[in-house]
Amino acid sequence: MPHTPGTGRAGENTRALSLPEAPVPAERPLRMPVYRATTYAFDTSQEFADVMSGAQGGYSYARIDSPTVDAFASAVAALEGAGLGEPVHGQSFSSGMGALSTVLMALTEAGAHVVAARSIYGNTYSLLDGLLRRFGVSTDFVDATDPDAVRAAVRPETRVVFTETLSNPTMTVSDLPVLAQIAHEAGASLVVDSTFASPAICRPMEFGADVVVHSATKYIGGHSDTTGGVAVAGPALIDRVRAARVDLGPCLAPDEAYMLHRGLETLPLRVARQSESAAAFAAALEDHPAVERVDHPSLPSHPQHALAGKLFDHGRCGGVVTVHPEGGRDAGMAFADRLRLSTIAPSLGGTHTLAGHVATTTHRTMNETELGAAGISPGAVRFSIGLEEPQDLVEDALQALDNG
Ligand SMILES: Cc1ncc(COP(=O)(O)O)c(C=O)c1O
Repeated sequence: MPHTPGTGRAGENTRALSLPEAPVPAERPLRMPVYRATTYAFDTSQEFADVMSGAQGGYSYARIDSPTVDAFASAVAALEGAGLGEPVHGQSFSSGMGALSTVLMALTEAGAHVVAARSIYGNTYSLLDGLLRRFGVSTDFVDATDPDAVRAAVRPETRVVFTETLSNPTMTVSDLPVLAQIAHEAGASLVVDSTFASPAICRPMEFGADVVVHSATKYIGGHSDTTGGVAVAGPALIDRVRAARVDLGPCLAPDEAYMLHRGLETLPLRVARQSESAAAFAAALEDHPAVERVDHPSLPSHPQHALAGKLFDHGRCGGVVTVHPEGGRDAGMAFADRLRLSTIAPSLGGTHTLAGHVATTTHRTMNETELGAAGISPGAVRFSIGLEEPQDLVEDALQALDNG
């Protein structure tokens, strides 16, 4: 920050803090600038007061708002809201869980009730079932593919119906128009975690969702090198989400915002390729004698194959495929260990294909009965298909099955 030294020759430390500023180019830089400042300067105390109170727009402090971070949120809002006539706004977060916890706290209060899909990401489940319950927000987990079960769970205190567009790891497709109708009839908001789909496959607000959340760590970032989250909603709800974010503090860092914004440029290309490769991978493994079942909505055997055709663009069904080998837990882990091209690792949505045994990792807190209820076999292995040649991935998985 530049200072104007007082009279006389300033001392060395003052001079070190009064250096010339970087030029502001007249030409448009081809890439977005990264504003790392945590703090913004004002000409007058009145201007400072007006920005802090919200009487005047502007930047003051990076936990509240900062330009690079705002640019990322606005970019995701533009993609999610592309087909809508109304304005859609975004807020960025330091992680997907930062986004989910903030949104759920923003839309509930002690005594409020949430109806959530049973088959959701483990930390979202524990957030709802543990932390939020301690603060007086109760959740009923239901089979979200059964509209009667969702309707039966809704109560006058229900504030949120929560689901994932594509669920982890069974790739269950949520019937978003039906869930939106049930939520709205109850005066509740439909909150959708669309991490597995991304706006390159489905934009849930077009089907009635009120808030869309992403772990941007996954497909949006796309290279397994950046952690972040984002929430998108109409003006009234996003104001509540922003206020909660400012109080809770999970703000995205500017460098991470830059990386995630850059990821958006190749999102459709990557997701199209990953969806296509995942469909080929799923089809090649489905009939193998050592395989009990393969989950991917592109397969006609998938329970929501037809629904995916209605909700998803260009027949894309995402890059995650879950393979249920015969032989239980040990057989599943051994299958993953025999893979040579796919890497055993958590997370998804990156350029490299990753594989993980579900029951001992992402869903380790569920017992056999709960796993069974969620449709997860003890041996299930989840693949996040990357950008490698699909035939190489298929050959690798087939050798791992054949050699079991
Ligand atoms: C569907 C889904 N939502 C949210 C999250 C949490 O995201 P993050 O790890 O960025 O906090 C994950 C992480 O795996 C996820 O798979």
